[in-house]
Amino acid sequence: MMVAEKARHSAILGTGACLPARVLTNRDLEAMVDTSDEWIVTRTGIRERRIASPEQATSDLAYEAALQACANASVSPGDLDLIIVATIVPDMPFPSTACLVQARLGAKKAAAFDIEAACSGFVYALAIAHQFVANGVYDKILIIGAETLSRVTDFTDRTTCVLLGDAAGACVIGPASDGRGILSLHLGADGGGADLLKQPAGGSRLPATHETVDKRQHFVYMHGSQVFKFAVKTMDSAVRRVLDECGLTTDDVSLLIPHQANLRIMEAAAQRLGISMDRVYVNIDKYGNTSAASVPVALHEAWEGGRIKEGDVVVLVAFGGGLTWGSAVIRW
Ligand code: UT7
Repeated sequence: MMVAEKARHSAILGTGACLPARVLTNRDLEAMVDTSDEWIVTRTGIRERRIASPEQATSDLAYEAALQACANASVSPGDLDLIIVATIVPDMPFPSTACLVQARLGAKKAAAFDIEAACSGFVYALAIAHQFVANGVYDKILIIGAETLSRVTDFTDRTTCVLLGDAAGACVIGPASDGRGILSLHLGADGGGADLLKQPAGGSRLPATHETVDKRQHFVYMHGSQVFKFAVKTMDSAVRRVLDECGLTTDDVSLLIPHQANLRIMEAAAQRLGISMDRVYVNIDKYGNTSAASVPVALHEAWEGGRIKEGDVVVLVAFGGGLTWGSAVIRW
């Protein structure tokens, strides 16, 4: 979707991130499952990931990232109009994690809700926030991607446990001028691939029972190789689509910030796009796949680390369970 001529532009006013202190290395995992540091590094690019402490829930990570994003945006939580949390590991099925964060921030004016689009959740939240700003309904929106994937990770399954990590990233979105901000957005879904990546039990289809627990159905299940192919193709088409819509090409991209699922996926997609890896932000080595948190954490690090300058064209792209995907072009 192109940003309409008459609509207000929206931009990222500030970012924040929260990474739990505990580091779980590939060597640590070697002691837990039949794997090796060499396999994990060569197949995924991951060296370590962060794990939330037992008392840290998703809203705790989300809150810390939110505080930092508000401070960096010079926005007081009391001025927020809306809070959206993208997560697949809410503190509980309801109330929403966004409501828990709203209360802790003292963001009394803000409406609050969660969305679920798995690893694409942050880009979906960005698109929703953009609509409210573009229409002139809201001026200050906090969007957060937050996950404690370690709570739904089967640490006896080497095909998934080496991949996942815990984190939260947040952004404050508001109106922008001078042609800055979000230039185009694209969201997509293919529910036909729902079985490729899922947490089978705990919802209305398979409510929690002793049997579902015994069968380990409350953990993330993934058909890795199928998701891999989907991811490479989707990153390529989703990035081209948003660039086309605003009349830009891959040559104009200053920095591509992809969902961090696998270094090989990022390299394959970058090659198809003709974008050299020095224009792709990578931090998967430190954090693994943190689902909805991965893009906002990477964006925060890229900005803080001086990888983004004013006027740069930054492209976000994510893909994940659903299947879902989303992309955005931002003039910084
Ligand atoms: O964020 C949501 C989106 N998620 C993704 O995008 C993930 C997409 N998929 C992937 O990143 C990759 O498919 C994986 C990293 C999950 C797997 O890599 P792969 O190169 O596709 O490996 P594979 O599944 O084809 O497995 C190759 C071999 C198998 O052994 P055999 O059957 O060849 O004997 C696996 O059992 O590697 C084995 N294997 C492992 N070996 C050591 C699988 N996991 C491990 C492991 N350590 N952790």
